[in-house]
Amino acid sequence: MTLKNMLMWDETLFRDPDVFEIDYIPDQFNYRESQMRELAFLLRPGIKGSRPLNATIKGTPGTGKTTSIKKIFADISEIKSKMIPVHINCQVENTRFMILSQIYRQIAGHNPSAAGNSYKRVFESIADILLTEDRVLLVALDDANYLLFENELNNILYLLLRSHETYPGTRIGVMVIISDMDVDLSRELDIRVTSVFSPTEVYFPPYSVTETFQILKERVLQGLYPGVLSDKNLDLIVDHTLRSGDMRVGIDMIKRAGLNAEKEAMREISEEHIHEAYKISRFLHLKYSIQALRREEKDLLRLLVDLSRKDEQLTSGQVYTIVKKKLKLGYTIYYEALRKLDTLRLINLEFRDGRGRTRLINLRYDPDKILFYL
Ligand SMILES: Nc1ncnc2c1ncn2[C@@H]1O[C@H](COP(=O)(O)OP(=O)(O)O)[C@@H](O)[C@H]1O
Ligand SMILES: [Mg+2]
Repeated sequence: MTLKNMLMWDETLFRDPDVFEIDYIPDQFNYRESQMRELAFLLRPGIKGSRPLNATIKGTPGTGKTTSIKKIFADISEIKSKMIPVHINCQVENTRFMILSQIYRQIAGHNPSAAGNSYKRVFESIADILLTEDRVLLVALDDANYLLFENELNNILYLLLRSHETYPGTRIGVMVIISDMDVDLSRELDIRVTSVFSPTEVYFPPYSVTETFQILKERVLQGLYPGVLSDKNLDLIVDHTLRSGDMRVGIDMIKRAGLNAEKEAMREISEEHIHEAYKISRFLHLKYSIQALRREEKDLLRLLVDLSRKDEQLTSGQVYTIVKKKLKLGYTIYYEALRKLDTLRLINLEFRDGRGRTRLINLRYDPDKILFYL
């Protein structure tokens, strides 16, 4: 390392570190024009005061679904219209009551009164505001695959989509965003929901190599100083991003590689900095999945990690006898929690041939990595 390559202690490689943050909304947002046009078309009736058309939005993580919705919602709030768009992050708000409280907070500007401590009361207050203020409600249930447990998705959709039956005159449209391609909504939804829900499906395909390169390049130009990351090294990051299938991994890698270079007082990100960054960024999915778990689900995962250290194949039946004693969970809750861990790709649940309902349980990540994020 020559002195010329070294940074002064107060220098930074980051022109604007914020552009690498998880909730950053980029100004430049290409390759999703057709999806956004389609969504705008579905919402247009809401601007004029009628019920917007319902939509389902499908695409793997990191394909720009949330960003598209947030951009459209920002546009809506800039024009004068009767429609109030509400974005719900279902990883955080994952019960009917929590979702309704969040909707209420966003349209009323304050918490629902403690007295109305039932979902029906909160919903009544929402309907009341919509009717007295003559407003249309648009709810985006983002990452709604987190609501597939304990029937929450059916419950909330039932309430929102049939609101005009209970509160005549209310107009509510729904967008259901699903980031798990294995989920088949027509199988998950009850007949009482599907009979009033005929959504248009909008698909967000994975980005191509060129698109991924261009998107990340744009971020580099905004966030790093010129010359910090060469196109050749960016190609390396693009490879890793495509392999993980999630744009977030690429954005996170640029940030970490930049920090690694800074730590060594280098002016340029090297291949080694990128390799080091990938070792952490590749677990982004693990980190967010674990954050989305409830307490009993985390307890179960911790127990599975412990049990997996013995040299035996875990089965759902055997594990339950331990769960019953140690965690005091009922069978239904245990089974739903297992299903959730499977859907989040933290474990793999597999049927064993000819042995009834029992399933084989395998962790999808290294036990120590799981413990680290727990
Ligand atoms: N077309 C794009 N242009 C610029 N950045 C993008 C684009 N698509 C996705 N991103 C970025 O990738 C990350 C993941 O996008 P996001 O909208 O959260 O995906 P999803 O909701 O489908 O998981 C975000 O940081 C977002 O800014
Ligand atoms: Mg999203």
